Amino acid sequence: MEFQKRRSQLFQTVSLLVIGFLSLRRVECRMNPTSEAFSYEATTCRAHSVSLTDFGGVGDGVTSNTMAFAKAISHLSQYASDGGGQLYVPGGKWVTGSFNLTSRFTLFLHKDAVILGSQDMNEWPIINPLPSYGRGRDHAGGRYSALIMGSNLTDVVITGDKGTIDGQGAMWWAKFHQNKLKYTRGYLIEIMFSDQILISNLNLVNSPAWNVHPVYSSNIIVKGITITAPIKSPNTDGINPDSCTNVRIEDCSIVSGDDCIAIKSGWDEYGIAFGMPTQHVIIRRLTCVSPTSATIALGSEMSGGIQDVRAEDITAINTESAVRIKTAIGRGGFVKNIYAKRFTMHTMKYVYWMTGNYGSHADNHYDPNAVPEVHTISYSDMVAENVTIAARLEGIDKAPFTGICLSNITIGLAEKSKKLPWDCTYINGVSSLVTPQPCPSLPEQGSDARPCPFPEDSLPIDNVELQQCKYNSYNV
Ligand SMILES: *[C@@H]1O[C@H](CO)[C@@H](O)[C@H](O)[C@H]1NC(C)=O
Ligand SMILES: *[C@@H]1O[C@H](CO)[C@@H](O)[C@H](O)[C@H]1NC(C)=O
Ligand SMILES: *[C@@H]1O[C@H](CO)[C@@H](O)[C@H](O)[C@H]1NC(C)=O
Ligand SMILES: *[C@@H]1O[C@H](CO)[C@@H](O)[C@H](O)[C@H]1NC(C)=O
Repeated sequence: MEFQKRRSQLFQTVSLLVIGFLSLRRVECRMNPTSEAFSYEATTCRAHSVSLTDFGGVGDGVTSNTMAFAKAISHLSQYASDGGGQLYVPGGKWVTGSFNLTSRFTLFLHKDAVILGSQDMNEWPIINPLPSYGRGRDHAGGRYSALIMGSNLTDVVITGDKGTIDGQGAMWWAKFHQNKLKYTRGYLIEIMFSDQILISNLNLVNSPAWNVHPVYSSNIIVKGITITAPIKSPNTDGINPDSCTNVRIEDCSIVSGDDCIAIKSGWDEYGIAFGMPTQHVIIRRLTCVSPTSATIALGSEMSGGIQDVRAEDITAINTESAVRIKTAIGRGGFVKNIYAKRFTMHTMKYVYWMTGNYGSHADNHYDPNAVPEVHTISYSDMVAENVTIAARLEGIDKAPFTGICLSNITIGLAEKSKKLPWDCTYINGVSSLVTPQPCPSLPEQGSDARPCPFPEDSLPIDNVELQQCKYNSYNV
């Protein structure tokens, strides 16, 4: 009897130990579903790190994580002056409505993390229109917040091991087409009135409208971003620096339904009153597919002015135009000192397109005397194949676009190209070594002419270096 009892006690103890051990392991596994060390490049590393799951996050593709994001970021905001905070988003599908970022903060997405924009429109609060636009872009009045929003911040990093932010835009595009929206669609990422921003190593897909919108901000790096949206989706612009100074966009790949990059600075009388230009922008190593829009657009909202934009080593495929300047009487402002070189292009409607009568006014109160100034536009060392029209360059009567320089450009026309490959009105400038021969307002300077200028100095944003940040997800 005694022996039997002992045996069963022993058995119970061992079983308890085994069960205890197993459940301990289960707990440990639950705490670290993807425990691993990871590292990434960023402008700054953070002293404190938490995981979205520490704040009740559920990555099941159904549960709303809006509160989890808000709580985690609010918690991390206390470390702004104590080494900064990082929010780790593990693998999983994390549905969320709009949330606001904080300063000295990093949002890091695991490679299998997918942030899904909520399909519940109440999860996207209505915010004021941008002061330099006076109204929303789709509708007068307010606008839906961006999914990921940052205002009045310093030092923010949004990055990942190529994790994904999916705006699930199809619902918004359908409502937009059916004219069922009362407010302007939200962007995927918007950073306002902020300084020192890095957005890198992410896949952005199906934004309701623009993908990345830095506005009234400075010292911005966008690097290693892949953006995809259906080529017919409305206004799914890639990256739109707007009234920003010192911007570096590099190693990005964009397929979209609107401009891959659109540089802006406010709209008509609102943009003139706000008066904040976009300047000192470098764009390099970009691949763009945009059959209905431009690789790089300047405008049409440019009322605060656009100057010193440098673009190099760009590939455009099946894109409407390579560089497009869009403006109108009433915009005011300027587009000047624009430099582009080393573009490789295939299947383009236009290589160059400038439009001085774009129209599209915020309202009827624009100033008819606010005539935009467009000059010093320099394009060199480019090759294009299968082009329908080499260039359509339309300035403004009595305010021509001047100082246009084209050099070392070879444009191969498509079989079905227009008889006159150049279409020029109210513009002037020079050309050298350009085929087919440009219009008479861009006279050939001969093969010993000086090439078109491209600045040789580096911009301050070029000197910002990234460092290696190391984390272990046991600690997050
Ligand atoms: C984010 O902050 C702005 C103010 O900058 C506010 O209007 C908006 O409601 C906030 N969004 C959320 C989701 O809390
Ligand atoms: C953000 O900064 C702008 C410009 O400095 C200012 O007008 C605005 O009031 C600030 N907003 C907040 C919420 O602090
Ligand atoms: C050339 O461009 C036309 C559109 O203008 C397109 O249909 C055709 O497929 C292109 N050809 C090649 C070889 O890419
Ligand atoms: C002309 O441009 C091509 C690239 O499109 C480049 O390889 C070549 O070096 C350029 N020629 C001169 C004289 O700069």
